Order: sequence, then structure tokens, then C-alpha cells
Amino acid sequence: MALLIYSPSHAVADWAKAIQALAPDLDIRIDPEAGNPADIDVALVWKPPPGLLQRFFNLKLIHSFGAGVDGILADPNIPKHVPLARVVDGGLTVSMAEYVLLHVLRFHRQLDVLQQNQRDRTWRWLPPVDASERVVGIMGMGALGSHVAPKLVNLGFQVASWSRSLKAVEGVTSFHGDEHLDGFLRICNILVCLLPLTPQTRGIINRRTLSLLPRGAYLINAGRGAHVVDDDLLHALDSDWLAGATLDVFNEEPLPPDHPFWTHPKVTVTPHNAADSIPAHVAPQIVDNIRRLQNGQPILRLVDYARGY
Ligand code: NAP
Ligand code: GLV
Repeated sequence: MALLIYSPSHAVADWAKAIQALAPDLDIRIDPEAGNPADIDVALVWKPPPGLLQRFFNLKLIHSFGAGVDGILADPNIPKHVPLARVVDGGLTVSMAEYVLLHVLRFHRQLDVLQQNQRDRTWRWLPPVDASERVVGIMGMGALGSHVAPKLVNLGFQVASWSRSLKAVEGVTSFHGDEHLDGFLRICNILVCLLPLTPQTRGIINRRTLSLLPRGAYLINAGRGAHVVDDDLLHALDSDWLAGATLDVFNEEPLPPDHPFWTHPKVTVTPHNAADSIPAHVAPQIVDNIRRLQNGQPILRLVDYARGY
């Protein structure tokens, strides 16, 4: 069984080492040293160049390095008869919860204002706002969103969620489907995007949807950059409709040096590392899926090509 590894941004040698340690019998090849394309059974990839996967005509499994698969599905020539699996990992989920809680609390407790006051040597009491007076809305209630939501409930926030299907999570008001998006947005003081990028969700954070948020709302986007229409977000920030935004993902990554987000006083930029796949955590589930393939057992964490996630 031969595994091809391709990623422009992961430490591929470390991944090969972690996988090889669990599966010494596996023939691991790192692109561009793929050898004979006919040999390759499994491809572990992240943002493969269009046409790369099609070259390996004996592929039996495509595995994503991460939770999101938009960078793989962007290839118009992806062989859709080959099952595509993604990562669902406890470490990734915990990291994302930390990221969301950090930025929700930072906005909630007005840390940016306090830090500015300190720089100005200003002793100014800020009136407290009870967490129960704020609604945190989570777009996407999958592996990540459904883990974050109860943690926000425990902190005392009102929590709402929006997903394709109706959810039943204690303490969380569930909205679902396109017809309930506007009603969801109207109540969100803090909007957290944890959606996958699909044709339906591309550009979903735009002038219209931002205008539905209550004035003074805050945005946290850790889904994908293309969920946001950058100019519409800048307009909402500059017109003082939004209080601020924390952005981990961008339409273009790395974020170009001249992009206005870098220096915008209301924007916090993090370099797409809200939640990272770590080889030691994720290699076991990749090897497990390869063993399943070898043994004719069902592959786990499969992506639905038709839904795009
Ligand atoms: P997931 O388990 O597949 O969950 C996706 C959620 O989005 C589901 O609740 C789904 O609804 C909902 N959804 C999808 N399309 C929708 C639509 N058109 N309308 C309403 N809801 C929709 O994904 P996940 O593992 O939680 O990951 C989510 C995304 O986070 C990834 O795709 C990736 O882009 C991003 N991510 C970012 C980082 C980072 O470091 N910034 C790290 C990991 C992941 P249903 O439940 O009804 O199907
Ligand atoms: C990271 O962005 C992932 O999708 O895992």
C-alpha cells in the first residue's frame, strides 16, 4: 500500500515520520517524489494543485490533512469516485474552543479598551455587562461548533446556533436553514463563523447579513476567509456598525502585506492557526482509515461530495 503526501503548508516530513511510526509497512512518498503514479493507493493532501489527484489513477482514498476540505474540492478534476475523508480530532476541537472563548471574552470584558486606558494611564471604571445580556451566535454546529456552544452556555452567555439541520443542544437556541438565517443574525451580539466553505456558504458574511446584526456586534471568523466579503466587512467596521472583528482566515493567505485588515484598529488578525492539525494527534486516524481500506471496512469521517463538507 503506497501513500502520497502533498501539502504546501504542513511539515510533510514530520507527518511522514508520524505515520510511518504507526505503519512501518506503508510505502510513503512525498510529492514530487511520487514515483510511478500507478502505485499510489492513498493521498494525504492539503490544497493540492488542480489535476494532481487525477494523475494517480489507482487512488482508493483521499485524506485531508485538516477538518476543512474546500482546498481539495477546489480542484475541478478531483476524482469523485474516490472516497474523501477529513480530520475530526479532539485536539483540534479543544484548540478551536480556546480560540473562540479567548476572543468572545476579550470582547465581552472590553480588554482592548482596558489596554488602551492603561497605555493612556487612564483609571476609568467600565460598567459591567452580564454575560446573560449577550447572545453569542455560532454559524456551523458540526464537530467544532457543537463543542464550543456548551462552553459558552457554561460561561452564562445566551447561545444561538445556525446549521443546515435542526440541533438539540441544551441551553442553545437552534436556527436552521436559509429561511431562518436572518432571524438568527438579528439576535447575535457576537457572531462566530465555524462553517465549512461550500458554494452555499461562500460570501455569507456580506453587507446584507452584517446589516442584520445588532449595532455594535462583534465578528469572529475561524471558518474560511471566503465566507467574508472583505469590502463589506470593512464598510461595517468603518461605519461603526460593527464593534470589531477577529479574523483567523482570509480570502488570500498569507494575508497580503498591504491588506487593510493588518492595520485596521478594530481588526485582530491571526495567521490561520485557531486550530492546527498536529501529526502525533492526527496520524492515528489516518492510519486507521488506511487499515480500514486494506480490510474492506467502512472509511470513517467521510465527506459528502454533493454537500461539499
Ligand atoms: P462539520 O463537522 O462538517 O460541521 C459543519 C457545520 O456547518 C454543520 O453543523 C453543518 O450543518 C453546517 N453547515 C454547512 N453548510 C451549511 C449551510 N449551507 N447552512 C447552514 N449550515 C451549514 O465541520 P467542522 O469540523 O465543525 O469544521 C468547520 C470548518 O471549520 C471547517 O470546514 C474549516 O473550514 C474550519 N476550520 C478552521 C480551522 C482554523 O484553524 N481556522 C481549523 C479547523 C477547521 P449540519 O450539521 O446541519 O450538517
Ligand atoms: C484548518 O483550517 C482545518 O480545516 O483543519
